[in-house]
Amino acid sequence: MKAGLYLSEKYVRIGQLDKPSPKRNEALIKVSFAGICGTDMMIYSGKHPRAKAPLAMGHEFSGVIEDINGEDPRFQIGDRVVVEPTISCGECPACLSGNPQVCEALGLIGIDWHGGFAEYVAVPLHRLHKVPDSLSDAHAALTEPVAVGIHTVRRSNLKVGDTVTILGAGPIGLIIGLTAKIAGAKKIYISDVSPFRLKKAASLGLAAIDAKKDNIVEVVKAETNGIGADVVFEVAGNNVTAQQMIDVCRTQGQIIVVSVYKQKPIVDLASMHFRELSLTTTRCYHSTDFAAAISMMASGEINVTPLISHELPLEEIEKGFEYMLNPETSLKVLFQPNL
Ligand SMILES: NC(=O)c1ccc[n+]([C@@H]2O[C@H](COP(=O)([O-])OP(=O)(O)OC[C@H]3O[C@@H](n4cnc5c(N)ncnc54)[C@H](O)[C@@H]3O)[C@@H](O)[C@H]2O)c1
Ligand SMILES: [Zn+2]
Ligand SMILES: [Zn+2]
Repeated sequence: MKAGLYLSEKYVRIGQLDKPSPKRNEALIKVSFAGICGTDMMIYSGKHPRAKAPLAMGHEFSGVIEDINGEDPRFQIGDRVVVEPTISCGECPACLSGNPQVCEALGLIGIDWHGGFAEYVAVPLHRLHKVPDSLSDAHAALTEPVAVGIHTVRRSNLKVGDTVTILGAGPIGLIIGLTAKIAGAKKIYISDVSPFRLKKAASLGLAAIDAKKDNIVEVVKAETNGIGADVVFEVAGNNVTAQQMIDVCRTQGQIIVVSVYKQKPIVDLASMHFRELSLTTTRCYHSTDFAAAISMMASGEINVTPLISHELPLEEIEKGFEYMLNPETSLKVLFQPNL
């Protein structure tokens, strides 16, 4: 079968893999849409600690069940599904306490095993979620990043009427903005350095701040009588924003670090202690967040159409990764392996 393969640093090409046969309690999924994520960009740059070439990346994908090995009354051949790509061990303390998203041995389909940048993927049945009729295949492929946004907001202390600041208007920052609005945030400030992403944020009803021109800390303080934001989401992942998350947060407010830092950040713990700031981190999502993402997209409460910048056949894998290197023109790039 056709597969879009990561072969070495900054080198992806269309190639061939054996069509997988589903093992017991697995389904064979014919992939409809598969999105490129920041993690795929990390693999592409040759810096991902676990991914090994040759690899069909892609952990954000929707598809149709082509074959099932086993019995599961929930699924039939022909069902439209989306794959929750996390695979946990089921035995470590995190798994046993019902928190498989922080499993000691957490693996992802598309990182640790071949993923959605291929015509077919074999997936354990317990990782499948059915896609309702009102949710398109393209939107269903964004379930994973929407679930990240929902899990992140659920881990916050966000209360109705709160002021929120989001540092970074990439796909994840924007999804957190949409979710925080539904959760009752009064005003949501979001910063970025990309005019394209700032325009997108403004079109979604978020207060977009150009970090190249304005200081987000001064803007938010000026508009909150010097108090600052109740909840701050750090989604840009650099030392500038790691300082801003502290300076923009109100006394006794909460910071949620969503970013995966490429280098160890400098964190101003002294300033945090003087004002009793809380710092929370977040990883992936629980199955319940994944289910909520599906249902909120299906109902139209979360509309991801503005986040999709490109839809390409898998043959254009090189072009897709080139688009993603430029935040000025791209947000979510989707491949259609069976076009
Ligand atoms: N916690 C999790 O489970 C989880 C899941 C998915 C992604 N992430 C992480 O979340 C982060 C965001 O993901 P993404 O896909 O949106 O990435 P992205 O790179 O598309 O977005 C980051 C944005 O930050 C902007 N930025 C850079 N410098 C800035 C500055 N000084 N001020 C304001 N904005 C600035 C960039 O222009 C970009 O738009 C990444 O670090 C990613 O690894 C974490
Ligand atoms: Zn992802
Ligand atoms: Zn585990």
